[in-house]
Amino acid sequence: MSTLPFARGILGKDRILHGGDYNPDQWLDYPEVLDEDFRLMKLAGCNTFSLGIFAWSSYEAEEGKYTFEWLDAIMDRMARDGHKVILATPSGAKPNWMAHKYPEIRRVNEQGLREFQGHRHNHCWSSPVYRRKVTAINTQLAERYRDHPALGMWHISNEYSGHCYCDLCLASWHRWLEDRYGSLDALNHAWWTGFWSHRFTAWSEVDPRDTSMDGLSLDWMRFLTWQVKSFFLHEIEPLRATTPDVPCTANFMGTFGGLNYAELATAMDLVADDQYPAYDTSNPDLARSAAAVSFKHDLYRCFKPDRPWMLMESCPDATNWREPRRLKRPGLHEAEMLQSIGHGAEGTLYFQWRKGRGGCEKFHGAVVDHIGNENNFVFRRVADYAKILDKLKPVLGTDVHAEVAFLYDWEVRWAWEVCAGTPSGNGAYDKTMHDHYLPFWEAGIPVDVFDSSRDFSSYKVVVAPLLFMLKPGVAERLRSFVEKGGTLVATYFTGIVDPTNLCFMGGWPGEGLKEVFGVWCEDHDVQNSGTVRSLNAVSGNSLGIEGDLTALEISALAHEEGAEAVARYADDFYAGTPALTVHTFGQGKAIYLGAKFDVDSLRKIHGSVASQAGVRRALEASYPRGVAVQGREKDGRAYLFLQNFSVEPAKVDLPAGSFRRLVSGEMASGSLELPACGSEVLAVE
Ligand code: GLA
Ligand code: ZN
Repeated sequence: MSTLPFARGILGKDRILHGGDYNPDQWLDYPEVLDEDFRLMKLAGCNTFSLGIFAWSSYEAEEGKYTFEWLDAIMDRMARDGHKVILATPSGAKPNWMAHKYPEIRRVNEQGLREFQGHRHNHCWSSPVYRRKVTAINTQLAERYRDHPALGMWHISNEYSGHCYCDLCLASWHRWLEDRYGSLDALNHAWWTGFWSHRFTAWSEVDPRDTSMDGLSLDWMRFLTWQVKSFFLHEIEPLRATTPDVPCTANFMGTFGGLNYAELATAMDLVADDQYPAYDTSNPDLARSAAAVSFKHDLYRCFKPDRPWMLMESCPDATNWREPRRLKRPGLHEAEMLQSIGHGAEGTLYFQWRKGRGGCEKFHGAVVDHIGNENNFVFRRVADYAKILDKLKPVLGTDVHAEVAFLYDWEVRWAWEVCAGTPSGNGAYDKTMHDHYLPFWEAGIPVDVFDSSRDFSSYKVVVAPLLFMLKPGVAERLRSFVEKGGTLVATYFTGIVDPTNLCFMGGWPGEGLKEVFGVWCEDHDVQNSGTVRSLNAVSGNSLGIEGDLTALEISALAHEEGAEAVARYADDFYAGTPALTVHTFGQGKAIYLGAKFDVDSLRKIHGSVASQAGVRRALEASYPRGVAVQGREKDGRAYLFLQNFSVEPAKVDLPAGSFRRLVSGEMASGSLELPACGSEVLAVE
């Protein structure tokens, strides 16, 4: 990771960020509590706090009359104690007076009704009044704290999301469409509007609530991302102007489906995620849920490959919105936090520093509970974790090096999800990614995750599950990747539609990928979930796969056109057609998984892919399933994060070499035991 281009960027320098959302504005009547906070922050080993996320009504209780005295005092105390502040813009929750005086800032819902004021994250994206108010408050904050030594980063709003159907937003949507398509003829063709007689004769006729045209639905999602990006850029204008050396970030929500985070990330200096995995030690699938979280971490690291990312929110205990409200078991907090650092994060922060006395989040886990002091298990666990963090400073600035790339693409996902007749319900896109990722994770093979518009030419393996839509140029780049020696893995429902969600004609996968895979697909058979079909690998196949494979409910009906069948369906009217193929194309290989395989089969398939492509593992060692190994390195420094996501102790047989436990300083060799849910960070010396 290169050094940040910000004089005051607080990541990747002298500390791994540790702290959380801090809301002193809710405690101004309790000066003794604020005093305690500053004593406890040091005890907890916290160093970074997000301030003022929802503090607008305390800054501007009356229109245009600003009060920042409380924030001045807190900022000064932060600086005095050597803490850094991620100062928020408060647009995530609008003051009551504003919402009542200017109803246009409130959203209009699907029924065309203006929403009542309340809750949060619900302002109109277009309202000029709201944009002016945001500029005014953001300017105040930037000018007041521009030189403040505690200011380290800007936290823009909070978890942007949602949409508004007011006249202003609809007008903006119509302008966006006009820019994109130029003419209604082009739009009518792209959306196939002859269907159900929906030809548009004026831009203003296009109602985003009409879900009968999936091309429209896909564009509406793109528009929402554009709208939020434009709002973000509007928010940061005064910050950029006044504090160009302070990075701007916003907290994302994993793989939230409502926004294309890859696109939004382009406007940000750093990316930050909010993750609440709630690992459950009573769940036999603990390792699988951990792998799914690792997948997201890899995605976040890759949004901005030259910079670290951070966990902006996580919970030191149980959240209040998940049933059952199970307290976090010992070891899990450390495991969860170290997992993100193993994947390149350089900060782990919490929602929240202190539980409020009231409000709907008063029972949401926090570092400081209602007891108000350090005498509870959550506080002790946070303080213990801070001691570990202190020893992990050497990993700052190191990076993850992957030879395998996964293509996770919001636009592809949306294209698939908005189509009726695709098996895309229940988060299938993400789950499919996670299933394919698991075998790599179990083998400790580093993986990068990014969208299909990015350059993947330097990887050895590209795994592109459900590449339903082909964005411009993607097919050619995949073709040349394989020609030049890469291994490409794709699945059923690949190469079906173009960027407007129109189907490719002439057999799938479209845009010349049939030649690359040496197969063409005519249709998909989607059966009930729970369908299990046993297949035999063709003996002597060139992937070296032996024995049984298990296919689940989705089957592509594909035909060989040059590819070798590795497995064929054994039953039903398409028995004998290929379920899994490999095709040598140029110097490389294209592997097509026509069937949805179960995880054991994916282990065999990806195990073969990885060994034939010769991709490196973070650690050449044997260890049981449930153990994850991630590596970070730079300039000859290398660190390994070994984690046991199982409820049984596990042994890792270390190869010959010199390994030092970063936390205890002791050397490790031979068989290293990880307790249940235990973690160890090793320096490779
Ligand atoms: C989100 C929000 C926080 C808080 C937490 C609770 O991530 O950003 O303000 O509500 O959820 O888990
Ligand atoms: Zn609106």
